[in-house]
Amino acid sequence: MSPLRSIVILQGYRIRPFRPEDLEEVERINRVFLPENYPSYFFIENYRRFPNSFLVAEGEKGEVVGYVMCRVESYYVKKVTILLGHVLSIAVSKRHRRRGIGKALMIKAEEGLKGYGADAIYLEVRVSNDPAILLYEGLGYKKLGILPSYYADGEDGYLMYKIVDDSVSEEMVWDALGKRVLR
Ligand SMILES: CC(C)(COP(=O)(O)OP(=O)(O)OC[C@H]1O[C@@H](n2cnc3c(N)ncnc32)[C@H](O)[C@@H]1OP(=O)(O)O)[C@@H](O)C(=O)NCCC(=O)NCCS
Repeated sequence: MSPLRSIVILQGYRIRPFRPEDLEEVERINRVFLPENYPSYFFIENYRRFPNSFLVAEGEKGEVVGYVMCRVESYYVKKVTILLGHVLSIAVSKRHRRRGIGKALMIKAEEGLKGYGADAIYLEVRVSNDPAILLYEGLGYKKLGILPSYYADGEDGYLMYKIVDDSVSEEMVWDALGKRVLR
């Protein structure tokens, strides 16, 4: 087993790569549990470009109960290019929550993003979304600052990040993303 791979044990569930035939179910979970929805091509484009960080959680009958979708972005800071993994969307169906699925999806997505060379990982989250904020903080994410009126309904967001490669400093992450936030 590659040293990059972490072992995530989930009773009754399995994390596996997204497949195009999962699209309908992933879009359904996205529509039901998140106000931020995307056209089908956005899911497919992220799958095509970054298949190792687009994952689903599957229940015992093979049903999709959650997903995480990410991409990798490059930023030119302090005369070097750094790669930032961006967690675009994550959701777990309500009746399957608090069983470790969200955490397992994040850990596996981080693994995929590191495999693409990500130096740090970031995401946006509503300031009111305590379950998600606690999940991310538990995984070592920190708040970079507030994204004023980031969401369509006017709610503020937090931009949260985690450095996954020691060659990148907090200052570099700030140079890449700091202009988006208020501190
Ligand atoms: C956020 C979300 C993905 C978490 O999924 P989940 O499978 O329930 O999360 P996990 O069971 O892996 O929880 C891991 C940790 O996160 C924290 N956490 C998750 N849900 C929580 C809640 N409702 N209250 C408090 N802490 C919570 C806990 O620290 C938990 O660890 P613990 O159960 O050992 O205490 C899920 O609540 C969800 O789909 N929400 C709707 C969509 C959404 O908000 N997505 C995030 C957008 S940024």
